Amino acid sequence: MQGLMVKDDAVKSIFTENLQTHGAYCAREEGLKREEEAGKIKFVCVSNDKIDEHMIWLIELKNIFARQLPNMPKEYIVRLEMDRRHKSVMVIRHNTVVGGITYRPYLSQKFGEIAFCAIAPNEQVKGYGTRLMNHLKQRARDVDGLTHFLTYADNNAVGYFIKQGFSKDIFLEKKLWHGYIKDNDGGILMECKIDPKFPYTDLSTMIRRQRQAIDEKIRELSNCHIVYPGIDFQKACSNKEAGIPKRICKLEDIPGLREAGWSPDEWGHSRFKYFNASTDGTVNPKLTGFMLSVLKQAMLAHADGWPFDKPVNVRDAPDYYNIIKNPMDLMTMSRRVESEQYYVTLEMFIADARKMFANARKYNSPETVYYKSSTRLETFFSSTVQAGVQSFLHFQQ
Ligand code: ACO
Repeated sequence: MQGLMVKDDAVKSIFTENLQTHGAYCAREEGLKREEEAGKIKFVCVSNDKIDEHMIWLIELKNIFARQLPNMPKEYIVRLEMDRRHKSVMVIRHNTVVGGITYRPYLSQKFGEIAFCAIAPNEQVKGYGTRLMNHLKQRARDVDGLTHFLTYADNNAVGYFIKQGFSKDIFLEKKLWHGYIKDNDGGILMECKIDPKFPYTDLSTMIRRQRQAIDEKIRELSNCHIVYPGIDFQKACSNKEAGIPKRICKLEDIPGLREAGWSPDEWGHSRFKYFNASTDGTVNPKLTGFMLSVLKQAMLAHADGWPFDKPVNVRDAPDYYNIIKNPMDLMTMSRRVESEQYYVTLEMFIADARKMFANARKYNSPETVYYKSSTRLETFFSSTVQAGVQSFLHFQQ
């Protein structure tokens, strides 16, 4: 048996290097957390307490709200912000307000109403809005003792609030909030439950630990983290472009295949049983005939087939192979079919065709003839394969 398992140490390093501990969310949160720790930004909660610095920040935040919430009368913004029952959580960088949330805690009802929320226009979509909300939740729970937030969200901010855990379904009993919060015809009432335990300002660490725990459990239950040396295609293939092997590669020689649960009697078996490989391992001639007819009659002869008839020439599209890492075309597929070695199952053939269509839509923009052709040809391809499979089924019965 070739290709022994990689050593345990190597497995460990593969595991930790490959473990994705950072999604975009965590990366942004951690970046801002580091800035906070370095003193570059700070999150503060202030209200109208007549401290000069706080009053300046409140005015700066009022200016951001006035600009970002054009439907709100400025007088109304000032009235609520300066109302001592309201608090404003702000993000401040270089002593300038970047954005903030003004809310009113209803302590007896244990919920808070978010009145205004905005980030300065040149600072949006950098994660400040999320971190601000996390600071707000942590503070509202730990300092004010709140369990819920309610807000009337502007239509165009609903997406942001959903990402912060708000929903349009209001679970809080109506008698707890009705008559407390101000009705707002122009917005959508949304609710967020504040978790009693979440470390809101350190969510990224919690997510990283959860990912690690899940990864460890997966390692315990499966061997999918073990990486085996692959097949050397340079050595094994006679026709490099079409990837057809010089000699039929014995499946039992492929490192890791048996360990993954494969057994030799599964060779060439597919959903389409009448196309299964024969017991000596050779490709079913019915399958070869079917694939050839789909390729020649349905794809190459189709009015939308021409963009796919041969590999993309770099002279026509110099950056093509930088963007498309697994190219596919009808000529390569024809060679693979004609080799009578490559497509052992119909699924493999369909996968190559789908790859070819997806590549065209990845590289080209939707208004181009290539993009449109790929969509039309894919529809035609799917219906041709389906009809062919049906007729085989019918024939078999
Ligand atoms: N619609 C849909 N999704 C949004 C919106 C929006 N308007 N704004 C941000 N998002 C998404 C971001 O793309 C990001 O998604 P991702 O995590 O999948 O990448 C996520 O929400 C968080 O983005 P942040 O960068 O943390 O948010 P940002 O700093 O941009 O602040 C805010 C969001 C406050 C809505 C800001 O865009 C803003 O000031 N908008 C204009 C004012 C506004 O609409 N305020 C809310 C009015 S309702 C009220 O005040 C009660």
